[in-house]
Amino acid sequence: MEFSKQFELINTIPKAELHVHIEGTFEPELMFSIAERNAIRLKYNSVEDLRAAYNFNNLQEFLDIYYAGAFVLLHEQDFYDLTMAYLKKCHEENVVHTEIFFDPQTHTDRGVPLELVVNGILQACIDARNQWGISYRLIPNFLRHLSEEEAIKTFNEALKFGELFTAFGLDSSEVGHPPVKFKKVFDMVRAEGFKTVAHAGEEGPAQNVWDAMQLLQVSRIDHGVRSIDDPKLLEELARKKMPLTVCPLSNLKLKVVDVMADHPLKQLLDNNIVATVNSDDPAYFGGYLNANFQAVTTALNLSCDDIITLAANSFKASFLPHEKIQLWLNKISHLKF
Ligand code: ADE
Ligand code: ZN
Repeated sequence: MEFSKQFELINTIPKAELHVHIEGTFEPELMFSIAERNAIRLKYNSVEDLRAAYNFNNLQEFLDIYYAGAFVLLHEQDFYDLTMAYLKKCHEENVVHTEIFFDPQTHTDRGVPLELVVNGILQACIDARNQWGISYRLIPNFLRHLSEEEAIKTFNEALKFGELFTAFGLDSSEVGHPPVKFKKVFDMVRAEGFKTVAHAGEEGPAQNVWDAMQLLQVSRIDHGVRSIDDPKLLEELARKKMPLTVCPLSNLKLKVVDVMADHPLKQLLDNNIVATVNSDDPAYFGGYLNANFQAVTTALNLSCDDIITLAANSFKASFLPHEKIQLWLNKISHLKF
């Protein structure tokens, strides 16, 4: 099968990315250079040694390495460089809007002030908007392996940034930390007028997707691929137009699927679900957004129409204002293909 037409479309069509952890865009080369300037010794001797460690049997094995990598980020400039490197990729790949996750507790728990983290990320976003016209949203995530009290403390600290954050999310180890554990803090988040999102149905069961919708009242489900196990849930996701931010290369690398041909993305689309494609932690999973599109296109035999649907879904599911969404949908509908 020849996919050159699809690949050209993937490269040229405007896209939004709705599920990317900025700490997961930390490329080994940048990690080594920041470690050196911060006089921190990494556990690995070289970029190659570090990359060779990127073999994961499950989410937890990945998270252990991912949190260790974030340890070298100390100064505002570090967060700026990290974010700018990712935004440059966005520019190269025609990602025109990105909603960036970050994990405040990964940094504040080691004594790095939240202001410094946010200022570094934000300044890179402002510069990328000015240079390349990329729009952005920032979404702090609570670490679900920590307590709800700690999440509440983080939320109260985040309140001083006013409306800078659009939504709050929930990430880290899903198994053993179901949505109900964070019901109170999510009530607080919504009471202050923020939207909510949550990782659910990645490694955990379809029930976590129900609970994220019903208990946490999320506007989007991050991953949600295990929904495929529950036909009633698929109906409900379609009926509510509840978007799923699907991350194909992540699912392959973390063994959520054995091979990409088993990935449920096409079935989700066939069930009228607002599925989107995203990179999650591209430095660890072997590719940025377009590589994710390419991987599902070849494995699932996606058509140009499927790719157009996925790109359109990325804007429909975004937190952009209605007029901006319409603008991008219009652009997509006028593409000659
Ligand atoms: N944090 C970074 N990537 C994650 C993922 N795929 N699932 C849960 N938490 C994460
Ligand atoms: Zn994620």
